[in-house]
Amino acid sequence: MEYLFDTANLEDIRTYGAIYPYTGVTTNPSIIKKEGKINFFEHCREIRRIIGDDRTLHIQVTALKAEDMVKEADAILDKIDGEVFIKVPVTEEGLKAIRALKKKDIGVTATAVYTKAQGFLAMEAGADYIAAYFNRMENMDINASSVIGSMAQMIRMWDYKTQILAASFKNMAQVNAAFEAGAHTATVQPDILKTAVNMAAIGKAAEDFAKDWRSVFGDVKIYEME
Ligand code: G3P
Repeated sequence: MEYLFDTANLEDIRTYGAIYPYTGVTTNPSIIKKEGKINFFEHCREIRRIIGDDRTLHIQVTALKAEDMVKEADAILDKIDGEVFIKVPVTEEGLKAIRALKKKDIGVTATAVYTKAQGFLAMEAGADYIAAYFNRMENMDINASSVIGSMAQMIRMWDYKTQILAASFKNMAQVNAAFEAGAHTATVQPDILKTAVNMAAIGKAAEDFAKDWRSVFGDVKIYEME
């Protein structure tokens, strides 16, 4: 069970990376758009510098034709680094590109996945990760847990190396449901992740413990005691 940050915001990655356990960062053109007209390659290199080499970085192509997707992937790998996972939407052209990229042993994250069929085909095309769009499925009255559960079942049944990278979340209940259904990883915006522990009851519990301590020992910390 791993968490990734679904953001390209450098400050958020720095701040929340020190708090939440995370194993990577995912972006897409809509996420990049939120950062304004940045220097794309330099910005992505900075994300890599922040997260280090042991975490995964997933960057999406923008082209719609397979040939151009592969060219964009080559540019990303050349100008950012060779370990980036290339996100490719699972369209017909996308499947063609995924197969071409895997032939060159390039890491691939199949994305914009709304259906079991897309997921199964992406697995068979060799995708390393499948970004299943949880909230967008729910908006379309598709049972997201069932889609993720079926993909997890096929991965186990046929011993695929593919991992399910659940994405598109609007709340933590959806994130938890994705894990319960069998997702290996979930990419979440830090604002949503924060709601997991920022509840009045949790803060009050911590404050009550501190208050009880102070009522006996005063303002003395444990490390200050003899
Ligand atoms: O990684 C992108 C995916 O999370 C899409 O999210 O919020 O546009 O449905 P959203």
